[in-house]
Amino acid sequence: MDDKEIILPSPDPLPSQASGGCPVHFGGITSGGHTPLNYNSYLMVEQLKKLQICQSEPPHHDEPLFIIIHQTYELWFKLIIHELDLVLDLMRKDKVRKATHFMRRVGAIMKLLVGQIHILETMAPRDFLAFRHKLNPASGFQSSQFREIEFMAGLKDERMLSHFEMDKEAYATLTHRYRGETLGEVFYDLLRLHGFNLPSPTPGDDQAKAAQMEAERIRELCRLYEDESGALTDLHDLAESFIDLDELISLWRTNHVTVVERIIGFKRGTGGSEGVGYLRSTLHKRCFPDLWNLRTALV
Ligand code: HEM
Repeated sequence: MDDKEIILPSPDPLPSQASGGCPVHFGGITSGGHTPLNYNSYLMVEQLKKLQICQSEPPHHDEPLFIIIHQTYELWFKLIIHELDLVLDLMRKDKVRKATHFMRRVGAIMKLLVGQIHILETMAPRDFLAFRHKLNPASGFQSSQFREIEFMAGLKDERMLSHFEMDKEAYATLTHRYRGETLGEVFYDLLRLHGFNLPSPTPGDDQAKAAQMEAERIRELCRLYEDESGALTDLHDLAESFIDLDELISLWRTNHVTVVERIIGFKRGTGGSEGVGYLRSTLHKRCFPDLWNLRTALV
């Protein structure tokens, strides 16, 4: 099925893509004129090492851990977004296997991120309290890349944009993502091209109509999991890669809230939320609800 190219319409490019550049900004390489490239200059290691600025005075021993763990998350988030943009593009071109290949990369990165949070458990609660007040009102709420990933995966919540009103660039990127297509929407368009009947509600449809359409969609999606001919294997594998991503995001949320409780208990968040109570309320979130629900319908 990867052989025939069916091009689906692409949405407007991101502001950074408008000039035909890389969807995520990775900058151009300058090797410093005549100086041959070496490991440190290529990776800008010296510049990278200067990006950890402690707020505590004198710097608390554990603050570099806190900064570096967040910075490495943000770097991996940047790459995840880069890969998801490609996956969207590949699905629009009916390149199913390639899309699955890059979703597997996203899954491999996410597995690392799920485990990485535990490094923070080596920080004693009182050590964190020694510099936590210096971070106010900065908060994970303001991770625009985390929100971008959520929006791309289908978890769009307009209220989240309000956390970025002071940050024009992040606000513009997130607003673009908010208006853009999600992985689930592009996947459904791809399935429609392959003959799937997947009705989706339009504004004005009542609850009963929406529920009826959901049941129809789930009946259709079950075909991916019931097919024994092999004709739908590639699409099935792509669907499973979305479930992998969803499960890994969910595992990250569980690990994050557990680490948060272990370090700050039930104190309020620096972003103003209830803290653990708020984070627990996010644990049920699902990016691909139909793909989860179809499992109940399978016989
Ligand atoms: C000592 C370690 C940490 C503590 C105590 C902590 C605490 C919190 C709290 C209380 C919130 C709720 C929002 C608020 O009111 O501030 C939150 C949200 C968040 N944190 Fe952390 N966090 C920690 C480490 C991390 C790390 C390493 C990441 C890596 C990216 C991270 C990413 C996030 C994100 C993305 C949110 C928003 C979650 C959502 O709205 O679903 N946090 N964090």
